[in-house]
Amino acid sequence: MSKKVLVTGGLGYIGSHTVVELLDSGYTPIVLDNLSTSDLEVMDRIEHISGQRPIFEEVNMCDAVALRKVFEKHPDLSGVIHFAAYLLVDESVHQPLKYYQNNLVSTMNLLELMSEFKVKSMVFSSSCTVYGIPDTLPVNEAESVKEAESPYGNTKRIGEEIIRDATRSEELKTISLRYFNPIGAHHSGILGEFQEGVPHHLVPYITETAIGKRSGLKVFGGDYDTRDGTCIRDYIHVVDIAKAHISALEVATEMEPGVNDIINLGSGEGSTVLEMIHAFQNATGINIPHEVVARRPGDVPAVYADISKAKKVLNWEPVHSLEEMLASAWKFEQTLNK
Ligand code: WQD
Repeated sequence: MSKKVLVTGGLGYIGSHTVVELLDSGYTPIVLDNLSTSDLEVMDRIEHISGQRPIFEEVNMCDAVALRKVFEKHPDLSGVIHFAAYLLVDESVHQPLKYYQNNLVSTMNLLELMSEFKVKSMVFSSSCTVYGIPDTLPVNEAESVKEAESPYGNTKRIGEEIIRDATRSEELKTISLRYFNPIGAHHSGILGEFQEGVPHHLVPYITETAIGKRSGLKVFGGDYDTRDGTCIRDYIHVVDIAKAHISALEVATEMEPGVNDIINLGSGEGSTVLEMIHAFQNATGINIPHEVVARRPGDVPAVYADISKAKKVLNWEPVHSLEEMLASAWKFEQTLNK
């Protein structure tokens, strides 16, 4: 009997790619989502790719009674991968209580039920945003966590601490994965990063410019202390991120009860915004009209990962190049607009 894994936020960008990897690895994912920022059509896409349609539970995790019903229905869960969260930095600045309420209450409800139903292993979706402006680069997990640049980032920092403390008190086995900048799409082109309205993130904005939905890209700031004046980020293929979750789940299951670990997930390389534009043009042959404008509040000048711990603990390393990441994002954009 294959191992059942509860995947919260399983219809989201990283969640859906991880569900595909879980199915490919012989797990039985239970996909939990409240459809607030995703669509049931993603289930069809997962089925199309993997040839299997996972069990779907439409649940708002802030509703503890509804979430309990999922644990009662699936008393044989072997672990949890917890993606479910609101994740838009600028939205969180304008609606902090919505973010604290959703991202933290859902996590606390989940931890209480894991303890009650003796589900010990959890992998948590955290973010490099907890590093703020890092003291050293590349940044490693020993770096101190900084004052978050946004309420979204704060929910990740506080979420990590809630999980760390509950791990000790409830004898759980947990790993928080700090993603850098996930980009790209499944090679099929039918799963990817879909953002309603005007894209907040760089790569969806580039692909929407390439397909003609946007007239040009605004580069937020050209006067940073970097090699070309634009911000540096560590871009990592979403499928590399998804595969790391399978490894992390297996490692967590083998950990001693009461142990929590924290691991960076990035490429280990930094790329500037202008380098991303040029990489996209190299990967697709498409020119991206762009202009440098004022800085975006809350952006950090440069952040990229030391991934030596992920290599050691998860026996994982990224395999996709920047051009492959961008070509896959472009393929997804073209599929969306067929
Ligand atoms: C990347 C770079 C922008 C759009 C966010 C979250 C982080 C994680 C990943 C969830 C920055 C520049 C962007 C544009 C631009 N999310 N940019 N023009 O802000 O690094 O990280 O997404 O875990 O937690 O904070 O990603 O793609 O928004 O920006 O110049 O139209 O591209 O200034 O330097 P970010 P991003």
